[in-house]
Amino acid sequence: MSSQYSKQSRAPLFEAMVAHHDKNPASFHVPGHKSGQGLLDEGTSFLKTVMSIDYTEITGLDDLHHAEGVIREAEELAAGCFGAEETYFLIGGSTVGNLALISAACEKDDIILVQRNVHKSVIHGLMLAGAKAVFIAPDIHPETGVATSLHIEDVKQALVLYPEAKGLFLTNPNYYGMGVNLKPFADLMHTLGKLLLVDEAHGAHYGFHHEVPASALSQGADAVVQSTHKMLTAMTMGAMLHVQGPRIDRRAIQLLLAMLQSSSPSYPIMASLDLARKRMHTEGWDWLEQGLAVVKEFRSLLDGLTTFGYHPRELPGNQSQEVQTADPFKMAIYDATNTLSGTELKKRLEAQGCFVEMTDGRQVLLVFTPASTRADMLRVVETLTNICLDVPIQKKELQAPISNILKLPYYTPISSPVAFDMRDISKVSRAEGAFSQVSVQEAVGNRSADMVIPYPPGIPYLYPGEIISASVAEALLQLVANGIKFQGTEFGQTQKLKIYT
Ligand SMILES: Cc1ncc(COP(=O)(O)O)c(C=O)c1O
Repeated sequence: MSSQYSKQSRAPLFEAMVAHHDKNPASFHVPGHKSGQGLLDEGTSFLKTVMSIDYTEITGLDDLHHAEGVIREAEELAAGCFGAEETYFLIGGSTVGNLALISAACEKDDIILVQRNVHKSVIHGLMLAGAKAVFIAPDIHPETGVATSLHIEDVKQALVLYPEAKGLFLTNPNYYGMGVNLKPFADLMHTLGKLLLVDEAHGAHYGFHHEVPASALSQGADAVVQSTHKMLTAMTMGAMLHVQGPRIDRRAIQLLLAMLQSSSPSYPIMASLDLARKRMHTEGWDWLEQGLAVVKEFRSLLDGLTTFGYHPRELPGNQSQEVQTADPFKMAIYDATNTLSGTELKKRLEAQGCFVEMTDGRQVLLVFTPASTRADMLRVVETLTNICLDVPIQKKELQAPISNILKLPYYTPISSPVAFDMRDISKVSRAEGAFSQVSVQEAVGNRSADMVIPYPPGIPYLYPGEIISASVAEALLQLVANGIKFQGTEFGQTQKLKIYT
């Protein structure tokens, strides 16, 4: 057994926490619950065990912001496991990773090429940095209307138009597990000495089995953010930022993370990152294999329920222009008879105890992970069978799928630079008369004073400062009509858009 493997079979941070616990220590430090002693009885059965190791930076437990002991060791093991040169533990999700990454890559007024369908944290990162984004529109998956990935030709064209761009920021895979091969993008950017930054929030399991896509790091990305809590076993908010190569400023990342993350990081979250890494290194392939067996059975059982269609159809790696890689653990299902919208299907699933990740109005996204059990999979199949047996659905003839509500040509292929500035936000929140609220139709042609984000999946449709086009206006109206919720704006309630006056 190599020494790296034997090290990887340990979880140094978690073990140090357990060792401290085993000393039966008396706490004269924060947190105030004193290892759960102050917890109300009603919280005991749920929270007491976790609180018993909810420590802080006491002797032997290192300091996330100046790691040189067990946290450093845990981060080094994570780097080795995920294929990075250096890894930073995040206790604020991929959100904080994206914030730090953009500010590390861009100074004020720098231009960066950004995939249009990014999580809002990328936009917030641009605001913090005061950077300018040239948005490149993704492909739209023809059957589902979901925004997928960029064409490399568009990136090349954007680099001709904006040769001063610092780099390219991609999100891969998307929420639905659809993605592209990243190597050509990495090669293109590196030939020009520029950065490839990747939000791989949904792909922490990538690269650990031949039936899941390759990881962004293995394809050459300079920096990668992963939500270890989404597809692996970290607790919610547990994520990692991985870096490699000479192009990304690691010192800047460390300083930014120290600014953006709490000075009291959660030890249970960090311990769960340590354990998630240990599991992947020591048994990742077998564990994924077991999870894949569950999703494969689900797919074959769904094939027997002709009422429901699903994506992705082909595994592994269904090669098409729009979707070069597909995550087998993401299953987007829809009522092929067009009787139930995604929103209605979600409601019916929930009524029978099956809670799903999200709906986009047409499809319902089921997220499986290697931790999904066969029993849960059979439960959702039984629920779908029951939904099929509902009279209104039975009576309908099978119809061709309607085009998805998101399937609208609402973005320009390459935007002009959109300047992001925190001051715009404070102007809008403070100054009377800096903006007005108008109907969607009236807003067309004006500059948005709002970030309008249908959620989930959290992809901003409008950024502050962006001109509102007729096709965006139409898309927003359709989303409202389909009951989609909006974040960061009152638009969902008022159906009025804020525009700069
Ligand atoms: C593509 C993408 N990036 C980043 C995030 C933020 O991740 P986290 O919830 O870990 O902060 C999300 C959240 O859904 C996401 O979908």
